[in-house]
Amino acid sequence: MNPIIKIFKTPELLAEAFADFIADDINLKDKYYISLSGGSTPKIVFKVLAERYSEKVDWSKVHFFWGDERCVPPDSDESNYKMTKDFLLDKINIPPENIHRIRGEDEPNEEAKRYSDEILKTVPFRSNLPCFDFVMLGLGEDGHTASIFPGRLDLFESDNICEAVKQPVTNQNRITITGRIINNSQQGAFLVTGKNKANIAAKILHDGVQSNNYPASYVKLNTGILYWFMDVDSSSLISL
Ligand code: 6PG
Repeated sequence: MNPIIKIFKTPELLAEAFADFIADDINLKDKYYISLSGGSTPKIVFKVLAERYSEKVDWSKVHFFWGDERCVPPDSDESNYKMTKDFLLDKINIPPENIHRIRGEDEPNEEAKRYSDEILKTVPFRSNLPCFDFVMLGLGEDGHTASIFPGRLDLFESDNICEAVKQPVTNQNRITITGRIINNSQQGAFLVTGKNKANIAAKILHDGVQSNNYPASYVKLNTGILYWFMDVDSSSLISL
């Protein structure tokens, strides 16, 4: 199925629309398992969710996971968990046991195994794999998504749920969910904003390029609906 592209004038309008979309989806279900992404756009989404939906969503039915994490302590400004905690988790009524953070402070390979086990134990299965209700994804200028970086297409074939990887420029240790888990999700969305993403977004969406250099081009949910929430700047090279 082709992705559904939604374009908004500004990142703020995109974030508001996505927050409404996710809140509505959560309210349709008894339990909700979502994989969050880091990055600048999700920060606005979490802020809007906290402002608009702290009382309008029963957060006790939501289980938060992360699609990737930097291997840093949970109080580091680089931590995707900390960003989510600051902008959302500290502002909603959610049981601590529903927050499944990646322990960035622990040894990466051991944590990748532990976190895989936590996903296997908690997230319902479909087609013999954990199936998130929703997977939030960012898009790097280099075509990465989650922490699946160029040249690591093996992570779309991996039988592992998560793997420990390295950011190719900074060499920072990261943990990422693998491509098969991303593609097994019921629904997913890339949140893409800014002129600096226009080229890579056009290569993936417009030219249909599938390349080892652009791992995000391999995100094609097996049976789920994939959305691209974009702003005018990031979609400026795409003719719809
Ligand atoms: C991370 C993110 C990463 C991010 C993209 C896009 O840990 O850095 O998970 O994959 O989503 O780099 O980031 P922006 O939305 O800030 O451009």
